[in-house]
Amino acid sequence: MNQRHYFGSSETERKLGYLREYLTAYSVALKNKNFSRIYIDAFAGTGSRTETRAVLPIMGEGEDSVVEITTPGSARIALETKPEFSLVLLVERDQTRIAGLRAAVKDYPGSRAHIREGDANDVVQRICARYSWHSERMRGIVFLDPYGMEVSWQTVQAIAKTEALDCWYFFPLSGLYRNAARDPAKLDASKIEALNRVLGTDSWRTEWYEEPEPQYDMFGELIGSARRVYDVDKIEAWVRARLQTEFKGCVLKPKRLYHSNGAPMASLFFAVSNPHKAAVKLATDIAGHILKAGISSHV
Ligand SMILES: C[S@@+](CC[C@H](N)C(=O)[O-])C[C@H]1O[C@@H](n2cnc3c(N)ncnc32)[C@H](O)[C@@H]1O
Repeated sequence: MNQRHYFGSSETERKLGYLREYLTAYSVALKNKNFSRIYIDAFAGTGSRTETRAVLPIMGEGEDSVVEITTPGSARIALETKPEFSLVLLVERDQTRIAGLRAAVKDYPGSRAHIREGDANDVVQRICARYSWHSERMRGIVFLDPYGMEVSWQTVQAIAKTEALDCWYFFPLSGLYRNAARDPAKLDASKIEALNRVLGTDSWRTEWYEEPEPQYDMFGELIGSARRVYDVDKIEAWVRARLQTEFKGCVLKPKRLYHSNGAPMASLFFAVSNPHKAAVKLATDIAGHILKAGISSHV
């Protein structure tokens, strides 16, 4: 491993635990079904995740120290999945992380893995448009695991349009509520643009905000101003409804993940693009069970 990728927390382990369980159950379920199974990791990283953890001194001697723990990231989890995927596409734009991915792929000789260098939105949209998913009997999973607000709505649409891909989307809930200032006067052009890009619409500007009842001060001047009335729960439900406009199969209620200070961080959505009943049932039975059962943070 030639490049350490420090990110995440125990919540990240939980997220990757869900992914690992889903990939395995999905691969087993489709094993004898005469489909090519593709896994697309849109934000693949290095293939590994390194975290620093504080360890207690032994028997009260010495000071607290810190250890580094490296565990498989999403790319290695996919490469380890049995039965193997027919195709694993790992998308990354950072050159040093790509070097890490190359090393990861070498560790799994015989795996049908390819690295796609570039912007995740461009690459995923190209891949989605490239195949005739149904006539080529292809099915698969896309993992969208950005740091923040990098995924454009066009990418979501492209995935949904395949009607063949399931999507795990680590949706940047905190990016939304931080950028959507409570006071709309504080919304600047870059925040508006970022929100529009992620949500694919500007309707949030009217739906999340409300004008107050008209009130007048002692001089007869109108007082009070518009405020965002959508809290985190409402924003999350709104996002789910928005995803449901694209994903014809279904969009499960997401799993909320939190920062260490307790603030909401992200919503892990699971969406099925295939509208056929059997496909929806298979995918949601597996994902629903995994999300409901939960994963302990140290899997
Ligand atoms: C949260 S990390 C992904 C971690 C990875 N899924 C794992 O489990 O190991 C996000 C990754 O996305 C990459 N990235 C960020 N923006 C990107 C973009 N627009 N296109 C491609 N990769 C991007 C970053 O370099 C980083 O490696």
